[in-house]
Amino acid sequence: ESITLEVTRYEPDGDTEPHTQSYVVPLRKDWTVLDGLNYVKDSLDPSLSYRWSCRMGVCGSCGMNVGGRPSLSCGTFLSDFAPGPVRVEPLSNFPVIRDLVVDITDFLDKLPTVKPWIIRDDGDVDVHAGEFLQTPAELDAYSQFSSCINCMLCYSACPVYGLDPDFTGPAAIALAERYNLDSRDQGARERLDVLIEREGLWGCTFVGECTRVCPKHVDPASAIQRYKLKAAQESVRAVLLPRGGR
Ligand code: FES
Repeated sequence: ESITLEVTRYEPDGDTEPHTQSYVVPLRKDWTVLDGLNYVKDSLDPSLSYRWSCRMGVCGSCGMNVGGRPSLSCGTFLSDFAPGPVRVEPLSNFPVIRDLVVDITDFLDKLPTVKPWIIRDDGDVDVHAGEFLQTPAELDAYSQFSSCINCMLCYSACPVYGLDPDFTGPAAIALAERYNLDSRDQGARERLDVLIEREGLWGCTFVGECTRVCPKHVDPASAIQRYKLKAAQESVRAVLLPRGGR
């Protein structure tokens, strides 16, 4: 039994336009799309380019559009598309370097803008001061947002990021919320100042596609809605207490 992968091939630096190349691969019950691509690479066409590493949904490097949906290719089974064919394309909203490999520079540049580290009122955390213990409940408060594997499926699914690449985007905002909800952190106000701009937060129209495609159930859409509420509350506070009173 076999299934056909219809793979987008493209070399921006070469003389080719994006085009589709079809490969027939074995259809095995336990084979993922990544297994199919590895079969192509090993047995049919070594020139095919794509990223992967862990093969178990942890590293986040194998994201691509499968059947039109942003997916981890290592977690998407070929049998779900039988009898095929299966469309395999690079993630949307990112420049293509080659075939299924996209340029993630913009995403990597955005992550540190939200200050994703523990911020304390008294300056940097003193590593000699001992442990900052947390209760299980305090860990639960942010653990959902710490599960992100930076696979960028949410950016590929986000129509706002597609239209406005300056938008901070779902994973980075969820990362900010991960630190805001950490009982050791005191930097929520600083992060709000970064995100309160239109491109930081308000561009989101709550389509919710980010949450739908997230393989780790991080739910960036809920993080963004929480942030909007905080931003609105801060605005009201600024009007009612213009001298910075509390
Ligand atoms: Fe690591 Fe798919 S290969 S998440």
